[in-house]
Amino acid sequence: MASFDLIVLGGGPAGYTGAIRAAQLGLNTAIIDKRETLGGTCLNIGCIPSKALLVSSEYVRFAQHQADRHGLTFSGVSVDITKMMKRKQTVVTQLTQGLEFLMKKNRITRIKGTGQVVAPGRVIVNTADGRSEEHTAPHIMLATGSVPIALPGIVIDHETVVTSDEAIAFADVPGELLVIGAGAIGLELGSVWSRLGSHVTFVEFLPRIAAFLDPDVSQALHRALESEGMKFHTNSQVTEVKVSGKKAQVRALGSDKKELNFTADKVLVAVGRQPYLEGAVAKDLGLELTNRGRVTVDPQFRTNIAGLYAVGDIIEGPMLAHKAEEDAIACVEVIAGKPGHVNYDHVPNIIYTNPEVVSVGLGEESARARQIETKVGKFPFAANGRALANDQSTGFVKIIAEAKSDKLLGAQIIGGNASELIPEVVSVLEFGGSSEDIGRTVHGHPTLSEAVKEAALAVENKAFSIAPR
Ligand code: NAI
Repeated sequence: MASFDLIVLGGGPAGYTGAIRAAQLGLNTAIIDKRETLGGTCLNIGCIPSKALLVSSEYVRFAQHQADRHGLTFSGVSVDITKMMKRKQTVVTQLTQGLEFLMKKNRITRIKGTGQVVAPGRVIVNTADGRSEEHTAPHIMLATGSVPIALPGIVIDHETVVTSDEAIAFADVPGELLVIGAGAIGLELGSVWSRLGSHVTFVEFLPRIAAFLDPDVSQALHRALESEGMKFHTNSQVTEVKVSGKKAQVRALGSDKKELNFTADKVLVAVGRQPYLEGAVAKDLGLELTNRGRVTVDPQFRTNIAGLYAVGDIIEGPMLAHKAEEDAIACVEVIAGKPGHVNYDHVPNIIYTNPEVVSVGLGEESARARQIETKVGKFPFAANGRALANDQSTGFVKIIAEAKSDKLLGAQIIGGNASELIPEVVSVLEFGGSSEDIGRTVHGHPTLSEAVKEAALAVENKAFSIAPR
């Protein structure tokens, strides 16, 4: 038995970031995770490995479909999936080992095993080698993350009908891949396997893909991915998945209520994630949950149990690694007596397809829903010198400002490297700036970021590189 100032349950982005912040603040901290490696879903089987595969598969797509116009000819491009997966794993291992190093250097105690909060301030850990140990701390932070949601009536057999856990590591390229749900996971993993040769079909319940985006941005993404060969059925619902042998027969109800039938080698269910709390808190403690099954917390991340805090995917808010990290930092700062705070209005949401899409703050549609009158500036990458030179001219930047005051409300970007362009907008939003603040800031030339500046100038019809409206 050992005593700590803080015990963190869960070693994902929330858990490890919170543990490091706690160590920086002088708290004697332990981190418990049952996985062999730290990093949670994000580092082990989510954000990082998917980016590794997105890059590798993008090179394949480039070699096959884009290289020629650069004067490059490849005499046949062959894909060695085993080697591609090995490189992905090398990236993951480098990062997870880096975390072990950081835990050591910050003097954080790493405990491998399954933890359960059995009473306020008390955790029992069942270790991988079958032992049971008890640890105590006045503060315990739950950061146990999330798992994929299953669809009622559809059995995930982890072989033919799978979640992202398996689709991140298929041993072979599936001939036909049916993806249920055109959100972040479906679109990213669908892109990977499409570029590697799968015929990829999406069945999406809502009228548009990546529905958090404004319709014009979602439509542009739809068109771009369709031109890569992916097929979409929006307004559609899967009604049955039957597996026989190694094939799945999928029935769905299409937009016009017509029945759709598909045969697939793999079906990826990517319809969202749900909090993972199994066994984390003893039932008799009565941990309070919201009606959506998330842990109820106050603005300082306190649950209804004394000394127990919750952060990341298990509480309300977008299930995103960067949001989870900020939750954990703020929570630990509160524990250390500081004013921890996260601004949920300014959490960027990114999908790493080609082109990438990103949204932060209010879009045109969400501003309208709040009855805020907006002015919008749009600038196409086709008019940006660097984008043309990069051969990345698809997409545009859209800046949304309040009509009356020019206060910046948000931005949406579709284009190459969109994910790297958004932090500028997030900073200006955080400082309560205007679109003019971005428009009058010096941007390096030639850069893709000039498209952000020009879109901000376009709010007042003052962009330089496109015709006035
Ligand atoms: P998601 O919420 O992003 O997308 C799920 C999609 O499935 C939605 O478009 C939804 O309308 C659709 N859907 C729901 N029920 C359906 C049904 N019965 N039939 C057909 N379509 C249905 O969830 P996803 O992609 O599973 O990702 C889970 C979480 O992980 C999300 O919070 C996401 O933001 C996060 N994530 C973030 C990534 C990133 O930041 N790039 C990458 C991967 C995941």
